[in-house]
Amino acid sequence: MYRTIENGNINEKLVGQKVKIIGWVAKKRDLGGLTFVDLRDRSGIVQVLINEGVARPDIRNEYIIQIEGVVTLKEVPNKNLKTGKVEVVASKVTLINKAKNPPLIIADETDALEDVRLKYRYLDLRRKVLQDKLIARAKITKVTREFLDNEGFIEIETPILTKSTPGGARDYLIPSRLNPGTFYALAQSPQIYKQLLMIGGLEKYYQIARCFRDEDLRSDRQPDFTQIDIETSFFTYEEVLDLNERLLQKIFKEVKGYDLKLPLPRLTYHEAVENYGSDKPDLRFDLKIRDLSKVLSNEEYFKAKEDVRGLIINDPTNILSRKTLDELNLIVKQHGLNFLGVLKYDGTAFSGSLAKNITSSHAEVAEALGLAANDVVLLGFDAPLARILSALGAVRKELGVRFNLIDENAYSCLWVDSFPLFSYDPETRRFASEHHPFTQPKEEDIAKLATAPEEVLSYAYDIVINGYEAGGGSMRIYDQDLQNRIFEILGLSEKEIEYLFGFFIEALKYGTPPHGGIAFGLDRLTMILTGTDDIRDVIAFPKNLKGASLMSGEPSKVSNLQLDELYIKINTGKDGGEE
Ligand code: AMO
Repeated sequence: MYRTIENGNINEKLVGQKVKIIGWVAKKRDLGGLTFVDLRDRSGIVQVLINEGVARPDIRNEYIIQIEGVVTLKEVPNKNLKTGKVEVVASKVTLINKAKNPPLIIADETDALEDVRLKYRYLDLRRKVLQDKLIARAKITKVTREFLDNEGFIEIETPILTKSTPGGARDYLIPSRLNPGTFYALAQSPQIYKQLLMIGGLEKYYQIARCFRDEDLRSDRQPDFTQIDIETSFFTYEEVLDLNERLLQKIFKEVKGYDLKLPLPRLTYHEAVENYGSDKPDLRFDLKIRDLSKVLSNEEYFKAKEDVRGLIINDPTNILSRKTLDELNLIVKQHGLNFLGVLKYDGTAFSGSLAKNITSSHAEVAEALGLAANDVVLLGFDAPLARILSALGAVRKELGVRFNLIDENAYSCLWVDSFPLFSYDPETRRFASEHHPFTQPKEEDIAKLATAPEEVLSYAYDIVINGYEAGGGSMRIYDQDLQNRIFEILGLSEKEIEYLFGFFIEALKYGTPPHGGIAFGLDRLTMILTGTDDIRDVIAFPKNLKGASLMSGEPSKVSNLQLDELYIKINTGKDGGEE
């Protein structure tokens, strides 16, 4: 037996008892003939005292040692340790394994560079802060399985090697050795399979599903990530949302002890974008974008401007200094807005970049805007409305941080629904699915598919938590003709539809039940619930922003023999030459 108890579970109730423990040396101090060791295992750290005269091997950081000894009360408790009231006084010390001197400090706070942490991920993982996140992640999946099992759902796996289809993100392609010149795509999600499971009569499906997308990475995106994927037959829209809210409520309760009030608030896509400049607004603070077109229309400068939107914030301590405003200007530029107009009101007059353009009495304009002293108006105009709103949405987010408006202990959890079915790209003159091509258009909008597809709304919904899109889903089309029409609007020819989705259209003909579902991003949910804004913190072996693993070195070159077997020649790019 390596141990009789885990280190973190040793406490004053065990005083006087003999224990055998094992773990990594987190810290060692020699004081005269005495040696103090902080011994770490997954459960925590306990202090070991090795008295003079007790034989001991060479002990260094990260060595694994085993201790036999007696639990003893400490004279001066260590308040920083859960086990800090006691220590184990060793009678026998055994060296189990040695370790190289680690290249990073293994403690909650480490000053190691990100690249070093990723290269030595297995050492980084020894840090409690990371272990706690993985433990929370495991709890989320456990609670999810329990909840869905109770609701009559069954867990079914679907293929990872799938067919490449257009739309969505770029596929990761896998060449088929047995079928030269052909490729699998790694599943971007189990979407088509879960719908086929509904056609297959399984009715209530879920899966903790690995998904793969070749897209530009961000702090909340990884190339391989995990979804809690759910699909149901014979559930109405309301029933689908209700089921998923209850699942979330249970996860919040069991993982965070947090009571999520149901039903969750809902905003339509248009309400979210109009008021918050984002389809994933963080409602932990309620700063709204205001339509100021009318109020300012008497001013010559604003007369011809179609859309004027603004954020109004009270700033008695001059947080919006010139430097901050410059930074906000950079943000709006990234969203395609030339500049952010500023009106600062001191109670009698305006200052700021637009003050000279207010020719009426400042006090009257301020009153019409509903301003108090020290209010600052940040304005967006002279761009298409969508751009103005997204720019102000980004400014709103920044103000939330700079004005300390966000209660870090609160959760803002809401549905955003009634998304447009399509987005339209005027350059390519093509429609793309806002969610995916299987999303059901709203009943009352179906006629518009022929005349104004861009106006068609859908039965799609996202779950938004603290400004993150934590999940998304929809009710699905279950009529083959309607599905065909959607593919046509997306610009697919009859032949392409047949080649890419023929099997699916065929399946829809055999009595498809009404169905709908959702996929939560497990990684994002874990991020939110463990309070990190870096997705890599909740994934055991993450990739860096270039999609590479600094630890094991993928993506990597492969041998010519492997390439030959796959009938692949590498084209190095520029001159089309071969390696
Ligand atoms: P969607 O593409 O919206 O929907 O994905 C669902 C959720 O998955 C998470 N997510 C990601 N997380 C980390 N890294 C990524 N690269 C990444 N991409 C997506 C997000 C997102 O909300 N099949 C549909 C769902 C359905 O309709 O049922 C789908 O995949 O949290």
